[in-house]
Amino acid sequence: MRLDDDDTSGGSRTPALMSAGPAGEQIPPSPPASAPGTGRPEPESGAEPEATEQQAQFIDSLVDFTRRHKADQWSGTLSNFLETIVRAEPSRATRTSHQYVWDMLRSQGKEDENGVLRCALLSSELFGIDDPIARVVDYFKAAAAGSEVGRRLLLLLGPPSGGKSTLVILLKRGLEEYSYTDAGALYAVAGCPVHESPLHLIPHSLRADFRQTYGADIEGDVCPYCRVRVEKEFGGDFMRMPVERIFISEAGRVGVGTYAPHDPTTADIADLVGSVDLSKVAQFGDEGDPRAWSWSGSVYAASRGVLEMIEILKVKREFLYLLLTLTQEKNVKVSRFPLIHVDETIVAHTNLAEFRKFLQERENEALLDRMVVIQVPYTLDYRAEAKIYRKLISGAEPAFQQVHLDPHVLHTAAVFAILTRLHEGEEKGTDLSKRVRLQAGEAVDGMGRLDAERLRERFADEGLAGVSPRFVINALSAAIIKSNAHSLTTMDVLLALKDAIESDARIDPKEKRRWIDFLVIARKDFYNRWVKEDVHKALFVSFEQEAQGLLDKYVDEVEASLDNHKVRDPITSEERDPDERMLRAVEEKIHISDSGKHSFRQEVVRKAMGAYKRGEKFTLDSHAPLHDAIEQYLFEQRRNVLRLVSSTTRPEEETQQKISVVAKRLVEEYGYDEHSAKEALNYVTTLLAQE
Ligand SMILES: Nc1ncnc2c1ncn2[C@@H]1O[C@H](COP(=O)(O)OP(=O)(O)OP(=O)(O)O)[C@@H](O)[C@H]1O
Ligand SMILES: [Mg+2]
Ligand SMILES: [Zn+2]
Repeated sequence: MRLDDDDTSGGSRTPALMSAGPAGEQIPPSPPASAPGTGRPEPESGAEPEATEQQAQFIDSLVDFTRRHKADQWSGTLSNFLETIVRAEPSRATRTSHQYVWDMLRSQGKEDENGVLRCALLSSELFGIDDPIARVVDYFKAAAAGSEVGRRLLLLLGPPSGGKSTLVILLKRGLEEYSYTDAGALYAVAGCPVHESPLHLIPHSLRADFRQTYGADIEGDVCPYCRVRVEKEFGGDFMRMPVERIFISEAGRVGVGTYAPHDPTTADIADLVGSVDLSKVAQFGDEGDPRAWSWSGSVYAASRGVLEMIEILKVKREFLYLLLTLTQEKNVKVSRFPLIHVDETIVAHTNLAEFRKFLQERENEALLDRMVVIQVPYTLDYRAEAKIYRKLISGAEPAFQQVHLDPHVLHTAAVFAILTRLHEGEEKGTDLSKRVRLQAGEAVDGMGRLDAERLRERFADEGLAGVSPRFVINALSAAIIKSNAHSLTTMDVLLALKDAIESDARIDPKEKRRWIDFLVIARKDFYNRWVKEDVHKALFVSFEQEAQGLLDKYVDEVEASLDNHKVRDPITSEERDPDERMLRAVEEKIHISDSGKHSFRQEVVRKAMGAYKRGEKFTLDSHAPLHDAIEQYLFEQRRNVLRLVSSTTRPEEETQQKISVVAKRLVEEYGYDEHSAKEALNYVTTLLAQE
């Protein structure tokens, strides 16, 4: 639970302390340091009773699962099926695979006021790639509405470990769950190798009648297997053919098929569409009998649902033609049978290298026309990237979870990863840092969301290269294993990343140097700010309270000075002049000049009055520049405590006491552990010494 509290605690943070730029530059809120130590397990207190309770809950959920999943078995004849199921809701019974997936997605999400579906199924596990997800959702929406795109194969294209497989897995799981619901009830001819729609049994000559009766169209023809059965078992009386409710299940090979090319040279098209089952030929006396056919191909398993094609461009061209025909015409041709109608959605994925190779061959261009290509790039939002790491860590081996990470480890590593994914263009160094912040939705130098969008348009193919989440996680694991430590700091992890870059033979030397520079940027422009802010805040018993107190005082004094009246001391009731020295001390922190102070103060008062009129409190969050000024003013006052940390002579007991109070606050309120708190204090002290 602690692992994904990013969003909730993020909002309560105040902007960072150190302003790198000129006065008035907006400093974005840094990521939540107050989030407790990432990757740290919950305290073990009272483990025993909790464990049994947990077991009981687990059993409950199993029981619930089986109850739900026993949901409404149904079986009967085609005649029963028409009378009850179809009559109740004809349009459900005639859904295509695309319509079925779309209905599933809709059941898992909400449409906003613009009719855009926010799909919880996908966005709860995939972070920072909302655009590609929206495009996939759109594909299904359009295909379900009968658009031409439904006749094209969906191809996800993206860099390694970019979430393509995960996206397809989520779709498949979603379908499995959906098929157990009432709305997702799906019916098939019992015993049919492609679990085809029972409505296929209705002869073409009667379909116009069906349409008139039920107001829905039937698409598709009965498969060769069932055709023979109707004749041989039921003497042609198709109304007696058995029908049953089916449940989508990858393991059961119903409605989900997966094909991964092992070795493209030996791959046999039979893996997709089956072959003659010699053991059955004797029984049925004829190789051409569909009952002697082995219907084990993934194309058949996937019928009614989704076929996932992994690394599709690695397969032989023969495969590709078969799949493209399947999506376009909804049928497959195997020797000895007439065309077999199969309705399924093919979702394929591939990486960029394969895709470029594919494009180099002229004849592939025509094939490309028959695909809808959706790029699935890496995210460029470092907060989303850090969420991916958290997810990967929480699913990792226990050794990983027992290591404490300081509160900026994942965000700093994520900033590095994003830097490697951005186009460098003309911008260098700090400009890149600004772009990282923009991409995370932070305000920079008066630039905002629009600028971020403009930049994204300019570099439409960003995020297709660079460091993958796996790379970062591997470097983290290596650091943990190597050091055998129970606490890793951001600096440890930056070093581990450096090692990983240097020892990776696949990265070319120029790239290596660039990436190592990015580690420096991540540290200087991000980590330093964040850790300084934590340490500074920990110098106060309640930083927020003291800052608000100072802000109130500042506003009072400003009002008095603007109106030229005296300030009354609340205790002695004596009157005195406004405290100009204090006002200037605050303002100088953000470089407000003597000539500019008047207009600055007027603006502050205007904002304070505005807040007052709206019945709101004027807080640090109401005024970004003042926020920085007040923070810096306060920190200046306590800086001497930090100087004590580095004093070389043996610190006095009283000094030591002061320092350990700060360290304790870092542990209790800012997500550090004892080790990383000590490191952070030393680190920030060195930073201050350099200023
Ligand atoms: N945007 C993301 N949000 C959440 N998790 C992600 C994201 N991108 C990658 N991951 C995680 O990283 C791991 C690798 O992703 P996945 O296997 O889906 O990538 P892929 O695109 O299929 O890669 P490959 O091309 O190597 O097959 C998974 O555990 C996945 O959950
Ligand atoms: Mg994959
Ligand atoms: Zn059939």
